[in-house]
Amino acid sequence: MELRSSQEYVKGSTWWPAPVTLVSCGIERPNIWAVGVLGAPCDDPPILTVSPRVGMYSYRLMSETGQFVVNIPTAHMVREMEYCGTNSGVEVDKWAACGFTQVPGKVVDVPLIAECPVNIECVIHQEIRFQRADGRPGEQALVLGRIVQVHYHDSVFVDGHIQWDLIDPILRSRPQTWRTVGPVLGYDKRKGPLAKPEERAELEARRLETLEGLADAIRATPYPTQATGKE
Ligand SMILES: Cc1cc2nc3c(=O)[nH]c(=O)nc-3n(C[C@H](O)[C@H](O)[C@H](O)COP(=O)(O)O)c2cc1C
Repeated sequence: MELRSSQEYVKGSTWWPAPVTLVSCGIERPNIWAVGVLGAPCDDPPILTVSPRVGMYSYRLMSETGQFVVNIPTAHMVREMEYCGTNSGVEVDKWAACGFTQVPGKVVDVPLIAECPVNIECVIHQEIRFQRADGRPGEQALVLGRIVQVHYHDSVFVDGHIQWDLIDPILRSRPQTWRTVGPVLGYDKRKGPLAKPEERAELEARRLETLEGLADAIRATPYPTQATGKE
C-alpha cells in the first residue's frame, strides 16, 4: 500500500458520508434548503450547526428571524431533497412543489415539515464568519442553533430511542451519491448491554428487509415538478 497525499481534499468540504437534512426557515413565506453537514458540537447547551452560503436566500430568512428548524427526511424523500437543494425559494414555492405540510413550531415561529419523521427547533445562538487566506470573507457562515424543542413520529421511536434504522436517513457520500445506512455492525458497549436485544434484533431484521428494493423504488420516483401552489 502506498500513502498518497492530496491538496484536493484540503480544499473541498466534506467527502465522508453524512445525513442530509432539510432546514425550514422564514415565517411569513417559509422556505426550505438542503444541508449536507449538520454539526453537533455541544450537548449542554444543546447546539447544532449548519453552514449556509451568506448570499443564499435562506440565509437571509434565518438571519432576519433568528430561528430555523432542522427536519430529517427519509430515503423516500430523495427527490424532494434534491429539489429543495437545487431550486431557490426566490423563484419557487418548495412546500407546494414537494407536497410538504407546514406544522407550527412549539417554540419557534418557523414551520416544521410534517412529512419528516424528526424535526428539531433551533434558535440562533451565535454565528461565525470565516476569512480566506487573502483576507476576503469566506463564502459560508457557521450558524450555531440552540435546540429548543424536538419532535418525532411515534413510528420511529422504539425501545426508548429514535431509531435511525426506522428513519432511513439520506446520506450524502461523495463522489456524487446519496445512500442510506446499512446493516448494524455492533453496538456501543460503553452504554451497557442492549436493553432489549430481541427487539433490536427484530428491528435489524426489518431494516434488512426494507433495504431490499429501496434503491429501485427510489430510482423510480419522479422528480417534483415546478411549484403548483405559487401565486
Ligand atoms: C445534499 C445537499 C447539501 C447542501 N448543503 C449545503 C450547505 O451546507 N450549505 C449551503 O450553503 N448550501 C447547501 N446546499 C445547497 C442549497 O440547499 C441550495 O443552494 C438551495 O437551493 C438554496 O435555497 P434558497 O435559494 O431557497 O435559499 C446543499 C444542497 C444539497 C443538494
